[in-house]
Amino acid sequence: MNNKNFYITTPIYYPSGKPHMGHAYSSIIADILARFNKIDGKSVFFLTGTDEHGLKIQREAEKNNKNPIEFCNELSKKFKDLTLTLNLSNNDFIRTTEKRHYESVKNIWNKLYDNGNIYLDKYSGWYSVSDEAYYDEDETETIDGNKIAKSSGSKVDWVEEESYFFRLSKWSEKLLEHYDKNPEFILPPSRKKEVVNFVKKGLKDLSVSRTSFTWGIKVPQNNKHVIYVWLDALTNYISALNYPNINDKLYKEFWPANIHIIGKDILRFHAIYWPAFLMAAEIKLPDRVYGHGWILSDEKKMSKSLGNILDPIEIIDKYGIDQLRYYLMKDVSLGNDGNISLENLTNCINNDLANNYGNLCQRVLTFVEKNCDNSIPIPSKRTVEDEVFNKRIIDEVDKLRSLMNKQDINNYIKTVVNFSFEANKYFNDTEPWSFKKTDKIRMEQIIFTILVQIKNISILLNPIIPVATKKVFKMMNLNPEDCKIQNINNNDILKHKKKLNEKNILFKKVENDN
Ligand code: MSP
Repeated sequence: MNNKNFYITTPIYYPSGKPHMGHAYSSIIADILARFNKIDGKSVFFLTGTDEHGLKIQREAEKNNKNPIEFCNELSKKFKDLTLTLNLSNNDFIRTTEKRHYESVKNIWNKLYDNGNIYLDKYSGWYSVSDEAYYDEDETETIDGNKIAKSSGSKVDWVEEESYFFRLSKWSEKLLEHYDKNPEFILPPSRKKEVVNFVKKGLKDLSVSRTSFTWGIKVPQNNKHVIYVWLDALTNYISALNYPNINDKLYKEFWPANIHIIGKDILRFHAIYWPAFLMAAEIKLPDRVYGHGWILSDEKKMSKSLGNILDPIEIIDKYGIDQLRYYLMKDVSLGNDGNISLENLTNCINNDLANNYGNLCQRVLTFVEKNCDNSIPIPSKRTVEDEVFNKRIIDEVDKLRSLMNKQDINNYIKTVVNFSFEANKYFNDTEPWSFKKTDKIRMEQIIFTILVQIKNISILLNPIIPVATKKVFKMMNLNPEDCKIQNINNNDILKHKKKLNEKNILFKKVENDN
């Protein structure tokens, strides 16, 4: 693994129902980071997929009168289709029902079993099928006669069965040491605190097999048991790289992962269980686990049981994918929960996309068409103001990169959109139209200066709104391969005197019909 490579993952989704906005949110975040790293010169591997075993899926399949694999085939396809609808740049889509994954899970299980980290005993305690998680008594409460998990509100059932256990308790100290030595292993910091406090209380051994159902990967030593769905699912991050073949090119180049993007609801699994399994199996740990907040609808987490699901596909059909991607990233602060609404979405489309960036591109390119022979002029009368104006973006590149490396997508967007606002202002203030008759050379210089700015703003916005920025690259006759961060300070990629391509509307204004 070297720092020219970048491996990023989304959670793999339960194909227990249709994908909703929460799923889209995790995937969009990961896609933006993947795309940014790609245009920043890295070789990127971006993984997503579906988590198909366990009691939750088995029950859903039964409810639908399907056998589990038939059921998963249908629903996994919806998640795969969503990768296209969301315009994800993922390199692979893994399903835990694939053979490659089975090999990997069995291998890791055998490693843990052979080195004494797994033993047979009996589990008795609370289990939530909806969360596929075990809970201690003090993590549950009774509301209206129903026993539920405090953290998720999901129903829990009492389970008593023979089970294999993973010696999680043995790894508490090592985990704390790891969090300490790698202060950015868990982000944002508030999430890290939660995890550290939980581990400090001491960890109990974890039940890692079930006997009361069959839909899963069988324990190699005992086919009455299926492997706990989380041990199975977490392994996807390495099975997609062809683990256990550690000499495989993908594994060598991309493991350990740079970052697992997850929702805060599944932090414990990724920040405690996963690193403990990896340490016990003597596999390197990922660099970072980022637990984002929830997308709320009517102030509540979106979920099938609450019936408050916003369908991303309906929103994309009505408003467009760039619009949704931009809105979610601009309006919801990544580490926190955020309420979304159609009203805010339409305001964001109209203000930021249509009136600001879209208008900038449209008015400048129309001016070029009408007054500059529809081609990029050659600059020759550059003022200090022009230089200072263009330099502001160049000077911010390192800061913008570091925002992306901290997953601070909100501030990244705010900075870039502010450049767009300034570019509109520059166009108004310099009044290039007033030089049409008196000083064509100055007019062309102003236009060139703004075109440089549009090129750079578009490169920076490309990870967020790939469809619109690609249109702008095309309209400006730029080679998309050249539209990289390294070329922010390179204006040779602008082809002077070559006719620009046909213009397209970037963002239509939308009515607020609520
Ligand atoms: N299958 C497990 C993950 C295994 S990863 C090895 C799982 N799947 S899930 O389909 O229930 O949800 C996955 C992720 O979707 C959550 O962690 C979170 O990232 C995202 N979201 C689901 N609902 C959400 C919101 N309402 N808001 C934001 N994201 C949420 O858990």
